[in-house]
Amino acid sequence: MGGISKETNKKLIKNSPHSDEMLTLVRRALAHYENKTTDQAPEVMPNSIDAYINETRYKEEVERIFKHLPLALCLSSELPEENSYRSMNVIDTPVLITKDKNHKIRAFLNVCRHRGSKVCEEGSGVKRNFICPYHAWTYDHQGKLVGMYGEKTFGEIQKEEFGLIELECAERSGLVWVMLSPGETFDIDQWLGDFTDELETLNLKEWHIHEQRELVGPGWKVALDGYLEAYHHNQLHGDTVGKHTVGNLLVLDTYGPHQRLTFGRKSLKDLIGKPESEWDSPLENIRLIHSGFPNLSISGVLGDHCLVSQIFPTASPNRTITRQTILSAKEPKTPEEIANTNEFSEMVRQAVVDEDYKIGLEIQDNISHLGSNNFIYGKNEPAVQNYHSWIKDFMSKNGTDW
Ligand code: FES
Ligand SMILES: [Fe+2]
Repeated sequence: MGGISKETNKKLIKNSPHSDEMLTLVRRALAHYENKTTDQAPEVMPNSIDAYINETRYKEEVERIFKHLPLALCLSSELPEENSYRSMNVIDTPVLITKDKNHKIRAFLNVCRHRGSKVCEEGSGVKRNFICPYHAWTYDHQGKLVGMYGEKTFGEIQKEEFGLIELECAERSGLVWVMLSPGETFDIDQWLGDFTDELETLNLKEWHIHEQRELVGPGWKVALDGYLEAYHHNQLHGDTVGKHTVGNLLVLDTYGPHQRLTFGRKSLKDLIGKPESEWDSPLENIRLIHSGFPNLSISGVLGDHCLVSQIFPTASPNRTITRQTILSAKEPKTPEEIANTNEFSEMVRQAVVDEDYKIGLEIQDNISHLGSNNFIYGKNEPAVQNYHSWIKDFMSKNGTDW
């Protein structure tokens, strides 16, 4: 792990209207550290194994939770300039996100209205138009059909009726949120509530994208559970992220279904008995995880680096694809900065691939043996409990009345 730049931390904190709140978080974490306590749920909570493996239930939950709620599909900084695009497959839906000349971001189904080809290959970049590879129908960044090869021979159609199918989309706090079901709308401010302010403090738009990769992980819930507790940190991550984090210490704040997890850094021990005026800036002593329901986790800020994880279900309840984006506070330029950023990237890759997902994949292959027994979430795993309670809550409601 590269050195933490106090300069960057100070800048981030000083500029943050939340510096008092950050200090409060350090106080809360320190109190737990001194007392060997953690934030807790009132009771332990059982959950059925079925919730993790039943295929019918899985399909219904993916439909309700992932296709009828807004998902953060990319960072705003993935579309840095006019005519940028980001194209991706999300679960089974091909999505094209564009930025027009007025910098308005839109999302579409990446499906040609002629006969269904993808109009843009997966990836990102800058294109003036999207030319379908099959018969060269051409769409602009507003999704309009602006050109047809052999138009005179094709026969007359109302071009304005054959634009790309638009998906509801909103940009907020440096992220682009999209509803995968065409025709369904959402109010991003209602969806995020006060969580917006928390995300804003991260300044995601300002960070440099260093690297992006996709990882195969265990099923959706096994994967997500691991992002929502520090109970496993000492045991599983002793050589990676656990080196910096106090195991089994969690300070939790919730914003509807979204959660902010605060972990203690080992440097908390140096604060015992020290006057607050002599404390380092808060992010030297705590680590924040912003967890956006249902599949976003932002491990910001570890010094100059930040990890954004998006966990996407697949056709199988036993596997997910995680997109990891490694951000650095500014573009690393010197050999030392590049080495530090690569070191961070490798550490989080290792923590997730060799530790979290290694054990997660084993769990996924094992859990059916528990049959009709339950999993049990501890009082010290309140964020895991909340997550599963919200899934139940959404499944008990019809439509999108969130
Ligand atoms: S399928 Fe796209 S132009 Fe024919
Ligand atoms: Fe982990």
